[in-house]
Amino acid sequence: MNIQDIERLRAELDALKCKTEKEVEEARVRFLGKKGEITALFDEFRTVAPELKREFGRTLNELKQSAQEKITALKDAVADAPGAKASGLDLSMPGDPLPMGSRHPVSIVREEIVSIFRKFGYDVAEGPEVEDDYHVFEALNFPPNHPARDMQDTFFVSAGHPNPLLLRTHTSSVQVRAMETMNLPIRVICPGRVFRNEAISARAHCIFHQVEGLYIDEGVTFSDLKQAILLFAREMFGPDTQIRMRPSYFPFTEPSAEVDVSCNICHGKGCNICKGTGWLEILGCGMVDPNVLEASGIDSKKYSGFAFGMGIERIAMLKWQVNDLRHYFENDLRFLGEFASAPEV
Ligand code: DAH
Repeated sequence: MNIQDIERLRAELDALKCKTEKEVEEARVRFLGKKGEITALFDEFRTVAPELKREFGRTLNELKQSAQEKITALKDAVADAPGAKASGLDLSMPGDPLPMGSRHPVSIVREEIVSIFRKFGYDVAEGPEVEDDYHVFEALNFPPNHPARDMQDTFFVSAGHPNPLLLRTHTSSVQVRAMETMNLPIRVICPGRVFRNEAISARAHCIFHQVEGLYIDEGVTFSDLKQAILLFAREMFGPDTQIRMRPSYFPFTEPSAEVDVSCNICHGKGCNICKGTGWLEILGCGMVDPNVLEASGIDSKKYSGFAFGMGIERIAMLKWQVNDLRHYFENDLRFLGEFASAPEV
C-alpha cells in the first residue's frame, strides 16, 4: 500500500458519475462495501511502517469520509432527477377535476313544490310504496270491484287476499295514513313515487312521482281550495298565472275538479304546448268526501277539508317544455346536465 493508491481512488471518486439509484449502490459497494477498495486499504493499514502510520491513517480516514459524502450526494441527485419517479406520485401536478353531479329535474321540482307549500304552513308526510288495498282504494271510497279502480291499473304484490299488497298507484294513500295518525287540524303534503301498469310512452310511464295535498279543519270550503291552488300556481308558474277549474270525478272528493293554468309559453294566445287552448292541465282536486273522513274516524259533521294531487313529471314538463316523459327516467347525462344551474329552492 502506498499513498498513490489512495490518490488514485480519490481521483476516481471525484470523477464518479451515476444516473440511477442502482449505479450509486454499485459504486457504494465498490468503494465502501465489505470487500470494497477503501475497506481493503484499511485492512492493509496493519502492514504500514509505524513511522508512516500517522500520515496514512489521516489520509485514509479523509478518503473514507469524502467517499461517504460523495455517495450520499449522488443518491440525492438521482432521486431529484426529472423522471426519476415516473411511476410515483408527483404532488406538484395539478389534480384531475372531478365532474360535478347535479340534482335530477324531478327532485328540483319536488323541492320547489314542497317549499311553496311549506310557506303556506303544510308539513311533509310520507308513506310506504308497497301499500295495501285498504289505504290505496277502500278507505278512499273505491268500493271493491268499482270501475273507478280501472283508472289506475295496479301492480299487485300479493293477490287472492281480502286486503292484498300492491304498489301504490297514487300518493292519496298517504292522506289516509295522515288522517289515521295526525291530530286535527291536518295540513300536509305527501311527495312520493307511484306505480301503474301503463305502457311506456312519451306521455305515460309505469313509475312516476306525485305530490298529494290535504287540509282538514272546521269550516274548510271550496273557496279555500281555490285560493290555495291559485297561490301555488302563481308561485310555481309566475305572478300573472290564471287558473280555471273544470268539474271532474274522483271517488275520494265531492265535488271534484281538474285545474288548468294559463299557458306560460303563449300567455293564453294558443301554442303547440297548450295545443292551441291557452290552458295547461296541472292537477286534480276536490272537497274530501265525507265517506273518506268517516273511514278514518273523523267526524264529517264537524270537519271538512280539501285534497289535491299532481304529477311532478307533468309539472316539470310544463316548466321546462320537455315533450317526452321518458327523458326523466333514462338518466342521460346530456339531459340531466341541462339542469345543473337550476337555482336552489
Ligand atoms: N290521486 C289522483 C290520481 O292519482 C290525483 C288526485 C285527484 C288527488 C284529486 C287528490 C284529488 O287528492 O283530490 O289521479
